Amino acid sequence: METKPRGKFASKLGIILASAGSAVGLGNIWRFPTETGENGGAAFLLIYICCILLLGLPVMLSEFMIGRHAHANAATAFEKLAPGKKQWHWIGRLGVVTGTMILSFYNVVAGWTANYSVCALGNGFNRMSESGDPKVFTDYFNSFVTGTYEPVAYLIGFMLLTHIIVVLGVEKGIERFSKLMMPLLFILLLVLAGCALTMEGAAEGLRFLFQPDFSKIDPGVVLSAMGQAFFSLSLGIGCLCTYASYFKEDVNLGKTAFSVAGIDTMVAVIAGIIIFPAVFSVPGMEPTEGPKLVFVALPHIFKDVFGGLPLLSYLVPFLFYFLLVLASLTSTISMHEVITAYISEVHHLSRKAAATLVTTICIVLSTLCSLSLGAGSEWTIGGMMLFDFFDYATAKWMLPVGGFFIAIFAGWFLNRQILWDELTNKGSIRFYGFKAFLFLLRFVAPLGILLIFLNELGWLAF
Ligand code: PFF
Repeated sequence: METKPRGKFASKLGIILASAGSAVGLGNIWRFPTETGENGGAAFLLIYICCILLLGLPVMLSEFMIGRHAHANAATAFEKLAPGKKQWHWIGRLGVVTGTMILSFYNVVAGWTANYSVCALGNGFNRMSESGDPKVFTDYFNSFVTGTYEPVAYLIGFMLLTHIIVVLGVEKGIERFSKLMMPLLFILLLVLAGCALTMEGAAEGLRFLFQPDFSKIDPGVVLSAMGQAFFSLSLGIGCLCTYASYFKEDVNLGKTAFSVAGIDTMVAVIAGIIIFPAVFSVPGMEPTEGPKLVFVALPHIFKDVFGGLPLLSYLVPFLFYFLLVLASLTSTISMHEVITAYISEVHHLSRKAAATLVTTICIVLSTLCSLSLGAGSEWTIGGMMLFDFFDYATAKWMLPVGGFFIAIFAGWFLNRQILWDELTNKGSIRFYGFKAFLFLLRFVAPLGILLIFLNELGWLAF
């Protein structure tokens, strides 16, 4: 089935950073605060962390085991590991469809970050602050995202950048890139968190994020937390499965999964520590503002904390948005890679031709998503704008469905010896709690996902 030699990641650090590069992105810095704000704050965070531990980690390890064992893209991996059992092949195909839909709306937001870094480069935020109008950042955001040509131009630019890196290949493109950028982003986030804590709404913001109000929990909140966990960890479409197919044999899968989930969760929580103090410091701003939250709250931090310092007030916004562009890029690359690897290996196309096809389809879908926020606002599905529908359908339903079947496949279908060999590198390293892990994989993760779905559908009385 495989015709060409597959690339390999060169170093273990590179593996963790590339996988974390896929996981860490707009999901942590844009979507996590948005969802936390809309779902009541700390109670959401608590359920989110439970979802990461009980559902996310077992599914992540499953993707790693399947990918490395099969040495193939997500769809081919199931064909290799379950020959003749056609029903499993749909997991890979579902992943490709889900990935295409996510990439399409994600790319729109990535385009916004690119616009914001260009705006910062031209000192735009400082100039906006001079107007003294407290709504200036909200107005800028609204007028940009509902525009027709500009956001589309940015999303096309972003998609082409992703395309170029995917075509360059695994090691040269992705690994080199992630090694440099991830640590830089992390440091800047810590600095910004420190700054946000000096704002007057800091205490209220921290209370919102860390002091749970359990009356806020309802089935929708639990579904959102599960969806956010899958989205943020890049699970359910075989993305980490595809990455693991490039892992070498001596990589410790358990450690890698813990490191990736740990880094990802830390970045999300730090993003919350940056955003909510700012939200509660700006008069009239609410945590429930949705997708604009990050794009409006952050310029307020820049203005309030660095306003009197000419160099910093110029440099910090630019650096932040630039790094956000890069964090988004490492995620868009990973989604593009899943789809490209599938098309090129299953349909025997060259990498370049496959990538070009994926890029073209995604540009068309992204454009529709972007226009649905403005000129095309009447294009709705189930009462949702196209952009919102793509987000809702993929994160809350399609990713967990993918994760459910991946857990079932690894837990019930794959030979136990394969699981053991993959987790212990054929007995050469230790893996503590294999039985507990099997229990999580076979029972807790699939049943947990199922119960959350049934609860949301109103078929349970929780
Ligand atoms: N995990 C990425 C983020 O948090 O930004 C988004 C993502 C990447 C989702 C890859 C799914 C995926 F397969």
